[in-house]
Amino acid sequence: ARITLRQLLDHAAEHGYGVPAFNMNNMEQGLAIMEAAEETKSPVILQASRGARAYANDVVLAKLIDALVEIHPDIPVCMHLDHGNNEATCVTAIQYGFTSVMMDGSLKEDGKTPADYDYNSGITGRVVDMAHWGGVSVEGEIGVLGSLEMGGGEQEDGHGVEGAVSHDQLLTDPEQAVQFVKDTHVDALAVAMGTSHGAYKFSRKPDGAVLAMNVIEEIHRRLPNMHLVMHGSSSVPEELQEIINKYGGQMKPTWGVPVEEIQRGIKHGVRKINIDTDNRMALTGAIRKVLTENPSEFDPRKYLTPAMAAMRKLCKERFEQFGTAGNA
Ligand code: G3H
Ligand code: 13P
Ligand code: ZN
Repeated sequence: ARITLRQLLDHAAEHGYGVPAFNMNNMEQGLAIMEAAEETKSPVILQASRGARAYANDVVLAKLIDALVEIHPDIPVCMHLDHGNNEATCVTAIQYGFTSVMMDGSLKEDGKTPADYDYNSGITGRVVDMAHWGGVSVEGEIGVLGSLEMGGGEQEDGHGVEGAVSHDQLLTDPEQAVQFVKDTHVDALAVAMGTSHGAYKFSRKPDGAVLAMNVIEEIHRRLPNMHLVMHGSSSVPEELQEIINKYGGQMKPTWGVPVEEIQRGIKHGVRKINIDTDNRMALTGAIRKVLTENPSEFDPRKYLTPAMAAMRKLCKERFEQFGTAGNA
């Protein structure tokens, strides 16, 4: 059945677990996530970005979600918009059946330029008003996501914020977080503590200087009832880097967010953990392997079936590691 983010995260808070929010762009990713949820009896957050909606088409995505919910009647499914950039993107997602939207007002509409507090709280508050009329949940973001190590700027894979971002902006100010929740009434709050999107987050295993989990603890102390969200939470497993590179890929050595750090976050109010890159890597590694070992193969099912299996395995691991398993 379809549920809202608020319903799911309230349950997660009550029972002390976290929920991975997996990005989805196509049927294969949807099937893999749902099969992993079924095998581990986990509730699910499926999230689609603006890019995913443009790629798959809103109608296809909406009917795909209907199908996934019908195939797995016992799995609670929250359908969430990832990084909405204005009111219209959020409202159209709701029209297509999303039960939750993120209004990311930490950045301007271009999704790159850091925005000021008044812009962020204004636009997020307006989306909360509209969404709550329809019983839809809203995630907001306070603080700018970006690498403390690289100063938040453009990263090797093209992710990253535009222009100069101060060290301060890359770490959510706990006091501003309290004000933001008061001003906007969001259901969940994404915070910045040094993670960034994509595969190239850290140049070595992160320590407290570049991954500031203490910021999460401080925010949780001041907002004990707020559901916190960690973006950029792929762990970028070394095994997946190795598979990709073994079969002709060219990923440079890199580190993601260690699962233990996420588990530490879950003890301090983190309820939603956004993961896209790890699944992209799982799919790509498996596809590269099949095509490298069988260069004459051209039936897509021959590489997409193992790709789905690799993604299903990764999703199952996260459901188990975050304590989501058994809560469907
Ligand atoms: O925000 C980052 C997510 O990984 C979604 O990425 O905008 O390329 O679909 P995307
Ligand atoms: P990753 O790139 O670390 O998977 O983060 C995804 C994300 O935050 C989507 O909003
Ligand atoms: Zn994100």
